[in-house]
Amino acid sequence: MFMTKINEVLPYDYEVLLQKVHAKLTDSRYNHVLRVADTAEALAQQYSADPVKARIAGIVHDYAKQFPDEAFKQVIMSQKLAPELLGYNNGIWHGVVGTYFIKRDLRIFDTAILSAVAKHTTADVEMSALDQIIFIADYIEPNRNFPGIDAARKAAQKSLAIGVAFELQHTLRYLVTQGAKIYPKTIISYNTWREYLEN
Ligand SMILES: [Fe+2]
Repeated sequence: MFMTKINEVLPYDYEVLLQKVHAKLTDSRYNHVLRVADTAEALAQQYSADPVKARIAGIVHDYAKQFPDEAFKQVIMSQKLAPELLGYNNGIWHGVVGTYFIKRDLRIFDTAILSAVAKHTTADVEMSALDQIIFIADYIEPNRNFPGIDAARKAAQKSLAIGVAFELQHTLRYLVTQGAKIYPKTIISYNTWREYLEN
């Protein structure tokens, strides 16, 4: 299997990346990021994706999670991103808009990694293997504990598509019970991925 070398996607050492990411996150969020990277790397090995890109995407997926709302709003406006984004919140922004900060601060420009980060908060009708791996790894990393986690982990062991479909169904169900506003792309994604649901 083709594997990227780490210096093809990172302009500095891996340990420097860890320091840069840790500097922007609480310890507990940083530890989540490390677990997502481990989980993503393992899924990449299992499903013949690129484990190096999976690890790096896992490390950076929540880079902007603790940035202030004002920073996201400024980027949405200055970069002329879809204005509808202003009607959502950090839950959507830290992926879709977070890629801006990853490019700016971390100097990571690999499109496969940036795509996986962007889609981890929204999903998409089209998702590469790496997109699916980060979406799932974030949901099932070893410290996750919620009703349905065992079924989510089993779904991901059957196939990435089954894992994505399971996660979309359960996440949407949860958001609706919370009365949350749903990002339209996530609904369209559910309509696409639901063919993989097993029930
Ligand atoms: Fe996230």
